[in-house]
Amino acid sequence: MQLNLNDRVALVTGGDSGIGRAVSIAYARAGARVVVNYNSNQEKADEVVAAIAAAGGQARAIQGNTADEDDVRRLFAETADAFGGIDILVANAGVQKDAPIAEMSLADWQKVIDVNLTGQFLCAREAVRRFRQQGNRGQMRANGVILCMSSVHEIIPWAGHANYAASKGGIAMLMRTLAQEVAADRIRVNGIAPGAIRTPINEDATEGEAGKKLLELIPYGRIGDPEDVAALALFMASDAADYMTGASVLIDGGMSLYPGFENNG
Ligand code: BGC
Repeated sequence: MQLNLNDRVALVTGGDSGIGRAVSIAYARAGARVVVNYNSNQEKADEVVAAIAAAGGQARAIQGNTADEDDVRRLFAETADAFGGIDILVANAGVQKDAPIAEMSLADWQKVIDVNLTGQFLCAREAVRRFRQQGNRGQMRANGVILCMSSVHEIIPWAGHANYAASKGGIAMLMRTLAQEVAADRIRVNGIAPGAIRTPINEDATEGEAGKKLLELIPYGRIGDPEDVAALALFMASDAADYMTGASVLIDGGMSLYPGFENNG
C-alpha cells in the first residue's frame, strides 16, 4: 500500500523539533505542503523547512504560540494564504514542567495546561471552522483531518508530572468528544499516544543511566524514534485511515502493558 498526502496542506504545530519535526518531514516526503509552526525557535523551524526543500518538498515556517487565541487565528490565516487552504492539522506542540505536587507552582500547572490542552482546543476549533467553510477540496475523502498528539500518560498516571498527565488525559477526552461532534461533517479526529521517544525534550530521560532505567519500562526493549511516530501519523492522516475517527493509538513499545506484571506480578 502506497501512502501519500499528495497536494494536501498540513499544519504541524511545534513542527520545529522532536516528533513534530519528524512528522513535518514525513508529510512533505509523502507529497504534502507543510507549515512548520514554531513558537520561539525560528532557526530550528527554518532548518526543517530547508531539509524539506532540499529533498524536493514544499514547506513554510510560521511563528505562533498555540496557547494564544489571536496567534492561532493568524497562524491558520497565514497557512491558508501560503498554500490556499488547510486539510490536516497535527496538534503537536507541547511542554513539560515537572515538580512534585506540593512544590508545583500554579504558573507551571497553568503553563502546561495552556499549551498542551487549551492550545489543542484553540487549534482544533480553528481547523473545524475552516474545514466547514472549505468543504471538500477534492484531494482526500474526508473534509478535514485532525491528529491530537497525546502520550501514554493519557492513561498511565505519572507521579511528579500531575500537570502533564492531566493535560494528556484531557486531550484524550477532547479528541473523542470532538470526533463525535464533527463526524457528520466528515472531519476525522484521532489521537496518537507515544511512549518514550528520543526527542530533545527527553534527552535527560533517554540517554545514559537514565536511558537504561527507562528500558525497564519498555517490554519491546528500545526507546522509540520520532520517525516511529511519524510513520503512524502518516497512515492516520492518509485516506488509508479514512474509516478511523475517535481512536487513540498507543505507540510505546509496550510501556502501557504493565511491564511490572511481566514475570507473573
Ligand atoms: C513524555 C516523556 C516520557 C514518556 C514516557 C511522554 O509523554 O513526554 O518525557 O518519557 O511520556 O513516560
